[in-house]
Amino acid sequence: MKNLRDINVDNKKVLVRVDFNVPLNQDLEVEDTFRIEAHLETIKYLKEHNAKIILISHLGSPKGKEIGFSLKPVAKKLEEISSFKVNFIEETLSPKVDQEIDNLKAGEILLLENLRFYKEEEENDNEFAASLARLADIFVEDAFSVCHRAHASTSGICSFIDSYAGLLLEKEINALEGVNRNIKRPFVAVIGGAKILTKVSVIKNFLDKADVILLGGMVANTVLKFKGVYGEIKEKEVFEAIKDIDFESPKVIVPIDGMISKDNFSRVGGIDTIKDNEEISDIGPETIEYYKKIIKQAKTVVFNGPMGKIENEVFAKGTEEIARIISVQNNYSVVGGGETVDFINKKNMKKEFSFISSGGGAMLEYISGKKLPGIEALNKYHEN
Ligand code: 3PG
Repeated sequence: MKNLRDINVDNKKVLVRVDFNVPLNQDLEVEDTFRIEAHLETIKYLKEHNAKIILISHLGSPKGKEIGFSLKPVAKKLEEISSFKVNFIEETLSPKVDQEIDNLKAGEILLLENLRFYKEEEENDNEFAASLARLADIFVEDAFSVCHRAHASTSGICSFIDSYAGLLLEKEINALEGVNRNIKRPFVAVIGGAKILTKVSVIKNFLDKADVILLGGMVANTVLKFKGVYGEIKEKEVFEAIKDIDFESPKVIVPIDGMISKDNFSRVGGIDTIKDNEEISDIGPETIEYYKKIIKQAKTVVFNGPMGKIENEVFAKGTEEIARIISVQNNYSVVGGGETVDFINKKNMKKEFSFISSGGGAMLEYISGKKLPGIEALNKYHEN
């Protein structure tokens, strides 16, 4: 795949899709800089080669323009860690944005406001994609972690502008291709977190690819409900997405116990004791030991998504113990995803993993063998 090193960017307006979907604290300050740092190589390259750099990203899943999802704090953090001046504009498409871009000088950086303030972004709206493309001469896709979404800024845009891979995207593809070519068995996928639709779709693929799939977090709650252990799945689209997956396969392992919660009350108990209005907030001690035993035998481990509600330290034990056992084993370990990487960073385990991907869902999908729309769009552009 052609990347930005293959082209002349001197004095050109280069629109770079980055993923600055970083955790913010209550004061709207950036909590983890991993994803920002991951794009520095591309940004530095463009700066050194005199491009006019226009950065676009999403942050979270706002419903329209919600100030708590503004990228302004990210601009400040990027400026701090890169020591480059970063201009920020609280708009994405407007005459004011056009004017700011016209005023950009070679080597200057401008970050636009959250793409997801426009519903057209997630709808992969053609006109929206074309408008984004009109902002620049060249498009660079650097946001591997959102390439599993067919959105206007990741997929649609490549039909309207010269498009190339960024250095982070290239690095991710090379690393994950390496994993795919060289999987040593047993191969264990540890999948947790809350983005059910993304996660369940990869479970299906991992059934063919992995030897064992260990589930935690909301994903495990959903599968337990599907298996009729307790409660019921209320979201129709979630039910539709999982109804054909073979959860009876011996490869799929769900928690046997958990920190079972209702409102502010939690207790440790077996899954057979969960009542319909309760939920597992973290995997329990027996599950932790069981999962550890399996991980100890693994030669390759892929890990994304917390095992519990880690925003509350009381429910962080499962994720911490699982992350630690993966990190100390002599296996090939890949970990990815904003929340997961932030967690292992806070627990000082980051250096112990073989590869840290900026992608969560995207990393799982790539390793599971799915085609990523963002990468497909670039490939298609270069085929034509
Ligand atoms: C991620 O956090 O995995 C990426 O930024 C994609 O975010 P999304 O799941 O909200 O599309």
